[in-house]
Amino acid sequence: MRVAVRQCPIDRRPLPQRAATAAARPLKRYLSEQAARPRGIGGRLIGRLWITETATVNDAAIALLAPTHGEHILEIGFGPGRALGMISSRGATATGIDVSEAMVTLAGQRNRDQIRTGALRLCVSDGATIPLPNDSVDAVMSVHNVYFWAEPRTTIDEIARVLRPGGRVLLVFRGREHPLPGRLDPTIYRSVTTNDVETWLLDAGFTDIETKSTPSAPTEISFVIANLQP
Ligand SMILES: C[S@@+](CC[C@H](N)C(=O)[O-])C[C@H]1O[C@@H](n2cnc3c(N)ncnc32)[C@H](O)[C@@H]1O
Repeated sequence: MRVAVRQCPIDRRPLPQRAATAAARPLKRYLSEQAARPRGIGGRLIGRLWITETATVNDAAIALLAPTHGEHILEIGFGPGRALGMISSRGATATGIDVSEAMVTLAGQRNRDQIRTGALRLCVSDGATIPLPNDSVDAVMSVHNVYFWAEPRTTIDEIARVLRPGGRVLLVFRGREHPLPGRLDPTIYRSVTTNDVETWLLDAGFTDIETKSTPSAPTEISFVIANLQP
C-alpha cells in the first residue's frame, strides 16, 4: 500500500513573530466581519471611520455616476450614508439598503433632514432582495460591497429588475486580480475579480460595460459602469 505524504510548510520565524501573527488572526476576523455587517459599538465606530476612509473613492463614484435632479438612485450597502447625503443634495431622490441595522441608524442620523423631507429612504435589506418595484430606479451604485454578496448573480439580476430600461449601474470594489491586503480575512472578503463582475453584468443583460480607474482613487480600485439594455 502506498501512503501519500504531504509536506506542510513549517513556520520558521521566531516565536514572538509567530505569536503576534496568531494573536492578530481574531482581530482580522473581527474587523472583516464588521466590514461585512457592522454591529454594536464596534460596528458604529468602524462606520464612523469609513466617513473619511472611503471618502475619496465615494467622491469619484458619485462623479462617475453623475446623479441628476429628479432621478431615483439606489445605493446598496451604504454604510455611514455619506454618499447618499451627497446624492440627495444634488436633487435626486435616493433609496439606501444595507444589511446592517447599525448602519441604517447611523446613516439615518447623518441624513435626518433628507429623510424628513422624503428625499431619502433607508431600509435594512439584502441586495439579493431589493424592496423596490420593477423599473423604478434610474441608477444603482454600490461601493466596497460585491465581496460580501452571498449570491452575486442574484443580486445583479435584482439590480437589473429594479432599473428602468437604459438605467445605469456602478459597482466599485478592489478586484481580486490584486492581492488582498493582509489585514482583511479572505474567508469574509470573497475572491471577486473585475472580470467576474463584468461577466455577471453581461449575463444579466447589461451593455456598454466599462471598467475605469480614476486618478484620485488607488489604481487597484475598479469602477465598473454599465447600462441596462434599453
Ligand atoms: C465595507 S462597507 C462599505 C460602506 C460604504 N459603501 C462605503 O464605501 O463607505 C460594506 C457595507 O455593505 C453592507 N453590506 C454587506 N453585504 C450586503 C448585502 N448583501 N446587501 C446590502 N448591504 C450589504 C454592510 O453592512 C456595510 O455597511
